[in-house]
Amino acid sequence: MSELVGARATAARQTTSTQARYNRIAPYYDLTEALLEPIFSRWRRKLWAMVGGGRVLEVGVGTGKNLRYHPPEAEVTGVDLSDRMLQQARRKAAKLGRPVELRAMDVQELEFPDGSFDAAVATFVFCSVPDPLRGLRELARVVRPGGQIVLLEHVRVDRPAIIGQLMDMLDPLLVRMTGAHINRRTAENVRRAGLEVERVENRAPLGLVKLIVARPADTSHPG
Ligand SMILES: C[S@@+](CC[C@H](N)C(=O)[O-])C[C@H]1O[C@@H](n2cnc3c(N)ncnc32)[C@H](O)[C@@H]1O
Repeated sequence: MSELVGARATAARQTTSTQARYNRIAPYYDLTEALLEPIFSRWRRKLWAMVGGGRVLEVGVGTGKNLRYHPPEAEVTGVDLSDRMLQQARRKAAKLGRPVELRAMDVQELEFPDGSFDAAVATFVFCSVPDPLRGLRELARVVRPGGQIVLLEHVRVDRPAIIGQLMDMLDPLLVRMTGAHINRRTAENVRRAGLEVERVENRAPLGLVKLIVARPADTSHPG
């Protein structure tokens, strides 16, 4: 019990520091990623082409880099921990004329009722969520049974093993510097969160970036 309380307190502290970090870097965030964005934008376009219409939740919407790829037939709600990242996203939405609802919210504690969405999407988010299992369970809860969860995430490289070991060694330093983990096993976490993984595709050499497609587990036929 006290272990659980301790873990929750640590996660709360890390959440506050993640929020402060993204608030700090929000004005420069797009600039820092400008060199990689031509590659990212190809992945973003392909990902959103897989998401149909209906009610879609984008978590960790950031500065709104995905807004231009949102399907016009979808009714999208975007949430983020950082008000200042959301400020940038609001500007982008206005510029693009995108009708998106943007709200400050923690993916670990979503304020939506069960089954509120047909799909949920996150790109490069679960590396910096302090308790990723809690966040993924929240996605499982707010997406309706049979709905879709699509993630694009950089993850730990398992083969060659030496790369994974290096990532493990460097992770504490990188977390201190950037707030993001480089050795998350996100596909495994998706399974551990009780979601049914439909497919996992490598999007970068060595499987450094993965597309993960999952669904909330079907609980309609217990036993
Ligand atoms: C690396 S940025 C990615 C932003 C955007 N998805 C993209 O692809 O450009 C990670 C984003 O996740 C947000 N984030 C981190 N932890 C979060 C949490 N617990 N709940 C909601 N958003 C979170 C950060 O504020 C930040 O905007």
